[in-house]
Amino acid sequence: MATKNILIVPGDGIGQEVTAVGKKVLDAIAVKFGHTFHYDEALIGHVAIEATGEALPAESLEKMRKADAVLFGAVGHPKYDNDPSAKVRPEQGLLKMRKELGLYANLRPIKLFDELLSASSIKPEILKGADILFFRELTGDIYFGEKGRKNDGDTAYDIAEYSRYEVERIGRKAFEAARTRKKKLCSVDKANVLETSRLWREVIQKLALEYPDVEVEHQFVDSTAMMLIKNPCRFDVVVTANLFGDILTDEASQIAGSMGMLASASIGDGTGVYEPIHGSAHDITGKGIANPLASILSAALLLDISFGMKEESDLVISAVDQVLKQGFRTVDIADKNTNPENILGTEAMGVAVLKFI
Ligand code: IPM
Ligand code: MG
Repeated sequence: MATKNILIVPGDGIGQEVTAVGKKVLDAIAVKFGHTFHYDEALIGHVAIEATGEALPAESLEKMRKADAVLFGAVGHPKYDNDPSAKVRPEQGLLKMRKELGLYANLRPIKLFDELLSASSIKPEILKGADILFFRELTGDIYFGEKGRKNDGDTAYDIAEYSRYEVERIGRKAFEAARTRKKKLCSVDKANVLETSRLWREVIQKLALEYPDVEVEHQFVDSTAMMLIKNPCRFDVVVTANLFGDILTDEASQIAGSMGMLASASIGDGTGVYEPIHGSAHDITGKGIANPLASILSAALLLDISFGMKEESDLVISAVDQVLKQGFRTVDIADKNTNPENILGTEAMGVAVLKFI
């Protein structure tokens, strides 16, 4: 029986709706296992800008540092997407949180629940058995290098930068994880063109000598994008840089049927942050139809990774599995075989999962 402080950071759009459900699941786990979870809330993103003028107010960051773990929703607002001149943007809150908390490793497990084989646009026979764990580097690369304009604003640049140290620490995490799985690691880069990628490959090759039991391959990002769809089952652990990881994991979400299914864990030096990989989805915000399963599965990752509560975490995952086996779906994962009565909204899907906890 443990006592933990969990910070809920819903952020924008459907972040609010799905995180509320994720929190209920954590609550149910606390009751079932006799743990005490204390909760606090903090602002980030557009809602934080509206309230304080900043995308990540100092108060929120302070709360994050003190918490045992953070359950995060999403950031973003359409009003900024078509206004490139906006100086303060919701996404800055997310990037600052990652940098300030030292969250350099973003784990994105891509696993297809068997019941969702037909929800993907990829053929079932190609998908069956796919189980990939992505390690996306999260605090370096073109995301955090110098950016700016020159020639009176007519030329723009974003510098991509990686240090040996940054590649090594994410590389180690990926090798360690591969050891506990199928012992296969695919390192993805663009070493035929980019100097950062050549450093990346050099560091991973060197690390490989320390992990002779792990089979390592190096792939270029363009061909990886192709192979993920052609033969997803060939991958086990994949490690890659920030931008490549951002793009490849959205692509890989289709292996799991929907973006609405994918959870992620961002870990590093201090507090871990757990979040769906989907965004704020303002097109469906407030409609009560967002899929809460990614937030629920993020809660499961939180229990496992930050609290070492494997049994609790497994129970959450199996509850999701049970609900899917019973035929319940949110609209994003429904298909022609789904009984319309089994298409649930956000809250109802949460209630369905809670029944199995
Ligand atoms: C993600 C998102 C973010 C990113 C955006 C919202 C800044 O796409 O977490 O994958 O690019 O990292
Ligand atoms: Mg992304």
